[in-house]
Amino acid sequence: MDGRGLVSGVAGREAFDEAPGDRGREQCRTMSDPQETRWSAVALICDDPPMSDNTRQRRLAAMRACDRILSGVRPATMRDRLADLDAGGDLDADPDFYGDGPVTTLENRVADLLGTEAAVFFPTGTMAQQVALRYGTDHTGHPTVALHPLGHQEMHERHAYAHVSGLRSAWPTTAPRNPTADEITALGEPVHTVVIELPLRDAGFVLPTWDELTAVSAAAHAIGARVHFDGARIWESAPYLGHSLSEIAGLADSTYVSFYKTLGGISGAALAGTTELASFARVWRHRYGGNVFQQWPAALTALAGLDRELPRIPDYVRHARTVAKTLTALPGVRVHPEPPPTHRFRLWLPHPSQALNDAALALAEEEQVWFAGGWQDTDVPGIAMTEITVAGPALQLTAADIIEVGERFLSRVAGR
Ligand SMILES: Cc1ncc(COP(=O)(O)O)c(C=O)c1O
Repeated sequence: MDGRGLVSGVAGREAFDEAPGDRGREQCRTMSDPQETRWSAVALICDDPPMSDNTRQRRLAAMRACDRILSGVRPATMRDRLADLDAGGDLDADPDFYGDGPVTTLENRVADLLGTEAAVFFPTGTMAQQVALRYGTDHTGHPTVALHPLGHQEMHERHAYAHVSGLRSAWPTTAPRNPTADEITALGEPVHTVVIELPLRDAGFVLPTWDELTAVSAAAHAIGARVHFDGARIWESAPYLGHSLSEIAGLADSTYVSFYKTLGGISGAALAGTTELASFARVWRHRYGGNVFQQWPAALTALAGLDRELPRIPDYVRHARTVAKTLTALPGVRVHPEPPPTHRFRLWLPHPSQALNDAALALAEEEQVWFAGGWQDTDVPGIAMTEITVAGPALQLTAADIIEVGERFLSRVAGR
């Protein structure tokens, strides 16, 4: 355990615009590592109080009833989820038995999409990536993996790679972006794997350009390391990179994808790569406790998500640029990155998070308009930040609608 990282405990808050504090916050820890100290100035503040069950239920109910939703998607009920299951496959067919049937269908679909020899279903991305890192260390004999301090492994997994797999991390950079080729070349110590998170979520969903990505992949291979893509959001990275999913995954030795974020599945992940990696992954998935008896609900909703959401993502990404640009016209708004490379970006307002969360709920309950929730205070007093997700509901909003929704929200914040 290297003990690094401001741990703020945010696992998967995509579906309905959820705040980082919502899912059982992990303990905040500030470490003595010098890299950590440099980084902490820009890391998220992680002591915002968890949302009460009552507030969460009020918010879900209010969002469901909204006519207009700027950020996020309308929260699904369990009955909505059942409809997804129906859309994902033949419910009269046999369920899976330890990963056959619909789970195999999903694995094959992912391998086709990513152009890999194989893909292996995992109950979580956290587990899938630990197995990918273990493969790297087993095949090179080095215990060190190159991670970003803002990457999911450092920020949101309680350092499982260290505790469970006995690995160490090296940080090629602390800049709020993925590492460059030069930074990989300059690492100066052997690493078994270089992990690139596409996009780097906790830096604001930032992406490298295609040329930067090809260069960093080549630099990793040149120092004898494998390349692993944390592709939890690879689906929405493809439009900006300007290449197909298989061309992107072709730069890596392994790629993890998620089914429950942008695709809207129940849960689950896949690890894609060679058949040799897949065999290893199946063995270690079992050892890590991920050989689940039946996973057909997750598999079917993932298949439904691939059918329904994947084709819509380029529109979300395109519209996110309009939403981000339009929002900057509102008083006090700051947006990053601008233009956003994916359909998600960060937005700051000069108000405390509590005032912004209260205003969002009141606007939704009283006017059936949802601006954005999940506000968190930053380390600049009086400035709060949230992540905006431009998905299906926002496609209905023109620039004029966006301004109107934003003005209504700001009026609420001002108490008018
Ligand atoms: C970038 C990234 N990587 C990995 C994960 C882990 O996925 P899971 O929640 O399936 O363990 C997440 C989840 O939020 C993520 O955002």
